[in-house]
Amino acid sequence: MGKLDGRTALVTGASRGIGRAVALRLAEEGALVAVHYGGNEAAAADTVATIRNRGGEAFAVRAELGVPGDVDALFAGLAAGLGERPLDILVNNAAIITRTATMEAATPEEFDRLFAVNVRAPFFITQRALRLMPDGGRIVNVSSGATWFATPETVYAMTKGALNVLGRSLAQSAGARGITVNTVSPGITATDMNSWLDDPEAARQVSTMVALGRPGQPADVGDAVAFFASDDARWITGQTVEVNGGLLLGPPVEPPAAAAPVSG
Ligand SMILES: NC(=O)c1ccc[n+]([C@@H]2O[C@H](COP(=O)([O-])OP(=O)(O)OC[C@H]3O[C@@H](n4cnc5c(N)ncnc54)[C@H](OP(=O)(O)O)[C@@H]3O)[C@@H](O)[C@H]2O)c1
Repeated sequence: MGKLDGRTALVTGASRGIGRAVALRLAEEGALVAVHYGGNEAAAADTVATIRNRGGEAFAVRAELGVPGDVDALFAGLAAGLGERPLDILVNNAAIITRTATMEAATPEEFDRLFAVNVRAPFFITQRALRLMPDGGRIVNVSSGATWFATPETVYAMTKGALNVLGRSLAQSAGARGITVNTVSPGITATDMNSWLDDPEAARQVSTMVALGRPGQPADVGDAVAFFASDDARWITGQTVEVNGGLLLGPPVEPPAAAAPVSG
């Protein structure tokens, strides 16, 4: 018996990376998972197939976020998959990073696009989801450590700061319905967004900045999100939790030769 038997979940950006890991774990716990994606149909289909092959339930929902009508498209697909069932769990995970959107070089178009995908979309997805969500539901937003350490990608970091603020504010208003709202803030995690980690030297350097001696894997974050989605987290709301292996806790430390194996 899973911790989420009988529940339903929407995970945005679940075709790849962290969102995929969240979807796999929620499904493993028994939830019916709506696997949202933007354009990578093959990756979304693979997430759904993996869940089903493991005995879980899932369906894919396509909606490009950050464009007019995005939320309507998402909820039309969600309704088709859920039928009459409510939405118990929402995980706002989909986001983009634009490396050129620095203080010096960001264009207004890049700025607007980042805020449209990373802030406007999760805000209005949440607004709609709250109408489908029964009392006692769960909302988890995926933010970033870039909210507390300096990074050249200023606009991306600003969008994630906005998400942190949304989480605190919403936790207060949704609390009356027993809905918890928490924020999971990953550190440096091996996904397509961080394809530079494929370089062993880059991965080694990251390992020196992490107390646990390695970059994160998507499942490291997915498991934390699943905790907040479960009844075990019933008395936790309005919190932001760093899931980063102890990133930048102190000066760089060379990991021992036999560092903990990368899992996930
Ligand atoms: N990786 C890290 O080190 C790291 C660190 C801190 C925070 N985070 C946060 O963790 C979350 C997941 O990141 P990730 O590294 O797993 O990213 P990723 O590997 O790049 O995957 C992004 C996911 O979001 C979807 N997506 C992106 N833009 C979209 C759009 N405009 N419309 C619809 N769907 C869209 C993608 O769908 P398609 O497959 O269809 O493109 C994909 O499923 C993000 O919120 C990110 O900011 C990541």
